[in-house]
Amino acid sequence: MSRNSLTVIDNRTGTSYELPIEQGTVKAMDLRRIKVDEGDFGLMSYDPGLTNTAAAKSAITYIDGDQGILRYRGYPIEQLAAHSTYLETAYLVIFGELPTPGQLAKWERSVGRHTMLHTNIQHLIETFRYNAHPMSVFISATASLSTLYPDARNIADPANRILQVERMVAKAATIAAFTYRHNQGWPCNFPDDGLTFIGNFLKMMFRMTEVHYQPNPVLERALNILFILHADHEQNCGTNAMRVIGSSQADPYSALAGAAAALYGPLHGAANEAVLRMLEQIGTPANVPAFLKRVKSGEGERLMGFGHRVYKNYDPRCRIIKRTAEEVFQVTARNPLLDVALELERIALQDDYFISRKLYPNVDFYSGLIYRAMNLPASMFTVMFAVPRTVGWVAHWLELVADPEQKISRPRQIYTGAEPRECRPAGLRGGTN
Ligand code: ACO
Repeated sequence: MSRNSLTVIDNRTGTSYELPIEQGTVKAMDLRRIKVDEGDFGLMSYDPGLTNTAAAKSAITYIDGDQGILRYRGYPIEQLAAHSTYLETAYLVIFGELPTPGQLAKWERSVGRHTMLHTNIQHLIETFRYNAHPMSVFISATASLSTLYPDARNIADPANRILQVERMVAKAATIAAFTYRHNQGWPCNFPDDGLTFIGNFLKMMFRMTEVHYQPNPVLERALNILFILHADHEQNCGTNAMRVIGSSQADPYSALAGAAAALYGPLHGAANEAVLRMLEQIGTPANVPAFLKRVKSGEGERLMGFGHRVYKNYDPRCRIIKRTAEEVFQVTARNPLLDVALELERIALQDDYFISRKLYPNVDFYSGLIYRAMNLPASMFTVMFAVPRTVGWVAHWLELVADPEQKISRPRQIYTGAEPRECRPAGLRGGTN
């Protein structure tokens, strides 16, 4: 009869061990039983980048990277993009169920109320140089929220946690908008509770002198879709950072800033910015083959917006964003760089280099073109990612804090340094220089 376990034989000692298998995993701590003698520390696993290590049990997001499937709380991302709004999806990701009309109205009111930003944070944003990278400003401003809300350190109180969550979801948008306005040298627009969350965000970003700013419904819908698609993606680098910092019971604003810092790297959330710069550098579809030749030779940069640690198939978010880009271009000018992107995708998907490595376009490949169509500078793109990803970060933080199996995050290492040696006073260390 088959048993749900793994039998391993340690060939150093000939001893056999049976390790239980639960949910397709063996417990790393079970490996520690495997020792050559009693004084031995026991076996560890070595996994740089945690490529094959589950660090949490999570009920939030499901990804099947081989099939190209993404679901939040069981709902396919395609259906959420088609039938829900960003705040509805945010509620789902954070609380586990789609809201009833009453729950949604209450949630929208609570988040709407918290979009107001303390003037200290506005002043902080304004102290940065006009050309400071918006992600650096966003990270600093979100970290600074902990100075205004010391109550956030009381993470043991569930009601208090939800209050901080509402603040973070709301204020991420306002911080992003104020950061953009400062970057452009324009005065900030204060939140308008008479608009939807996304409508208000557009107004805070783009209102110039209009007395009654009305968000363009096509752009409002497009931004809803983009924000839904970016809301969560299970244990990615930024979310892992949120969990690692949260595991020390630091306040959630500090953890949020750390998660945003992780997102800032070009291998993660700043890939959208890198994609646009890459498309600009390529210039026209005719230059695509030469560019891809350089990518494949390893001499040039990677094909940004391609490849994914988890997806070994077409990223389902990318398909929706590509469609949304076409809709946005109906109301804005069509960006000619779209043709460069389409040509890159067409050739790469027929090329053995990309096929054999299962490299497909990811979420960042087309999103920048939409943001550029909205007249945003490339440096703002990662901030546009961080605003909705705040939802995923706070959902994982809530899950972590309530999970009795979680501990302070503290990996092991394989020490490769010097053997013990004696430290002598400077004059006795030898050497001529
Ligand atoms: N262009 C060219 N070659 C690539 C690319 C790419 N974009 N991505 C991976 N490869 C190649 C690697 O060179 C490697 O080839 P090799 O086996 O001959 O050495 C192979 O594919 C495997 O690549 P890894 O780096 O081992 O894959 P990993 O899972 O560690 O990296 C990552 C995933 C970081 C996303 C990678 O594909 C990449 O750098 N992509 C470009 C940046 C990007 O778009 N990032 C956004 C990801 S989505 C997000 O974070 C929101």
